[in-house]
Amino acid sequence: MSDVAEPTKLLLRTPPQILGPFYPFMMTPTEGGDLTSGGQAKGTVLYLSGRVLTEKGEPVAGAKVEIWQANAAGRYPHPNDDNYAAPLDEKFQGFAVTTTDGQGGYAFKTVRPAAYPAAPGRWRPAHIHFQVTAKYEQLVTQMYFKGDQYNESDAWLNSSSRKELLITDPAPVEGKEPGAQAVTFDVVLTRG
Ligand SMILES: [Fe+2]
Repeated sequence: MSDVAEPTKLLLRTPPQILGPFYPFMMTPTEGGDLTSGGQAKGTVLYLSGRVLTEKGEPVAGAKVEIWQANAAGRYPHPNDDNYAAPLDEKFQGFAVTTTDGQGGYAFKTVRPAAYPAAPGRWRPAHIHFQVTAKYEQLVTQMYFKGDQYNESDAWLNSSSRKELLITDPAPVEGKEPGAQAVTFDVVLTRG
């Protein structure tokens, strides 16, 4: 029997992604985690939750988690978004912030975003932008959806060497809005 301790298996750090052109400015993020105006926003309600962890698996309490995203039609409530073919949804708050609890947990109620055209002939797959700010580290990344037809061609997703860490697979959730889904997205920082 060896008395040499097994090396600690570290979690894989969540890969970074670009901030993107639609980081909200001159906008106050919705607090409390509900981007849907109490479920009134158009689209599939998505219960998005997860934990912020260090690579040693320790919870990161008190981290600021910001998300921003297109609505269910593929439009950001941002003055630079010229995807006019996709309507704005006044009930959808495209930008929210929350703080992780003692277990590193966070939760948002949002809708599944749609893909949108980024340039002529080039579409971005559906994604949700994240900015996580902890005491020692800040991570900007994007969360994607399994099965999106544009995942394979997206330059940003495919720029990541571990893109599988960014692709989620929501599942139906019972007892919520009709058709609602839930998904978990943990964010791993090098340290808290
Ligand atoms: Fe985006």
